[in-house]
Amino acid sequence: MFSKETYQARRDVLKKQIGSGILLFLGNDEMGLNYADNCFRYRQDSTFLYYFGLSAPELSAIIDIDNDQEIIFGDELSIDAIVWMGTQPTLKEKAEQVGVQTVLPLSALSDTLKRAEAQGQTVHFLPPYRPEHRIKLLEWLGIPLGKQEGSIPFIRAVVAQRSIKTDEEIVEIERACDITADMHIAAIRMLRPGMKEYEVAGALEAIAIGAGGDLSFPTIATINGQTLHNHYHGNTVRSGDLFLLDAGAETAMGYAGDMSSTFPADTTFTPQQREIYLIQNAMHRAAVEALRPGIPYMEVYELTARIAVDGLKALGLMKGNTDDAVREGAYAMFYPHGLGHMMGLDVHDMENLGEIWVGYDGKPKSTMFGRKSQRLARELEPGFVLTVEPGIYFIPELMDKWRAEKKHLDFLCYDRMETYKGFGGIRNEEDYLITATGARRLGKRIPLTPEEVEALR
Ligand code: GLY
Ligand code: MN
Repeated sequence: MFSKETYQARRDVLKKQIGSGILLFLGNDEMGLNYADNCFRYRQDSTFLYYFGLSAPELSAIIDIDNDQEIIFGDELSIDAIVWMGTQPTLKEKAEQVGVQTVLPLSALSDTLKRAEAQGQTVHFLPPYRPEHRIKLLEWLGIPLGKQEGSIPFIRAVVAQRSIKTDEEIVEIERACDITADMHIAAIRMLRPGMKEYEVAGALEAIAIGAGGDLSFPTIATINGQTLHNHYHGNTVRSGDLFLLDAGAETAMGYAGDMSSTFPADTTFTPQQREIYLIQNAMHRAAVEALRPGIPYMEVYELTARIAVDGLKALGLMKGNTDDAVREGAYAMFYPHGLGHMMGLDVHDMENLGEIWVGYDGKPKSTMFGRKSQRLARELEPGFVLTVEPGIYFIPELMDKWRAEKKHLDFLCYDRMETYKGFGGIRNEEDYLITATGARRLGKRIPLTPEEVEALR
């Protein structure tokens, strides 16, 4: 946990920004996996963590701006709970650690909110993303399930604050990134033909947990890197395969790392793999060099798309005018996702608050295949932490579908693409802090070029 002054200062900024009303913070509860007492890994809501620091189920909090009051709602542990869970600080003591003096039982929350509304106060809440949040909003505020979009001023104020990482947050994020890099370096060293994907995934999880935290998202460890969020780990790795790993650690305080690497099952890349790898490297390098305050991240994304098209044209996989191929979306055959996203207490930071507010400053978003997956488009600011993760993929189903539809015939060389079916995909990913003048990589460097990867094999 940070000092109580940190949490107090964060709440003070938020109060000033919103000006009046009540801000409601819904904590996360335990969730049964296959029965009530056998739960998924517990994870507190990130906004609750940001303003109130406490990671425990069955807590909620309000900031009553009009009456200058901050209250954590929750119940002290019963003797039965202490028998099962051991000695714990009281909720009152925990609240004091984050600078909150008033603790009330959870049962008092509903009446508190109803009284406030009766007195004409506005209760602001954030968009719910768990069924338990939805039920609470229905039960406590009577808001029907279909009308729980959340308060835009509250969303915007939280996004503005959480987007700019402080020095103490950067220390935590960098710790997560260092552990994440260790996970990737270990995987690059251990992979051999004949192994199962889950052997690699399992070894990485041990590194994240062994460093005192956990995973920041479910690991992608696959010989089918062309499937973007592939969580299946049951394949046997064979000579000639490319292995794509996208994995990250979360620190005990909840800050995330997120990196990707791609390496051969053998000790060296094949010539075909190396050619595509070098295109990915060029996209990656150009993106990193472009990072600075003021540049819209959409512009950096378009830059990487142009480099992809130029590289693929040189290999006879694309043709035509590069700018047209980017504008019309033909590149998305090979690069169907975004360049990166914000990262912090969530691996896709604040995604539950809405991509439009986090990545687009409230402006509308493209619906075009490929471009619509760019989660961050706005101008970069010092203090932003984001990922850089361009990739090149060969997706047989997409090739067949677009070919049958005669799509982008001016740009795509379908006959040549046939020889890449079964190639998989290549993505490398690093995490960067935007500084006053440019950007700084967070965490140890992972191998990114074919030579660097081969040196570890
Ligand atoms: N690391 C997974 C993702 O960025 O979607
Ligand atoms: Mn990522």
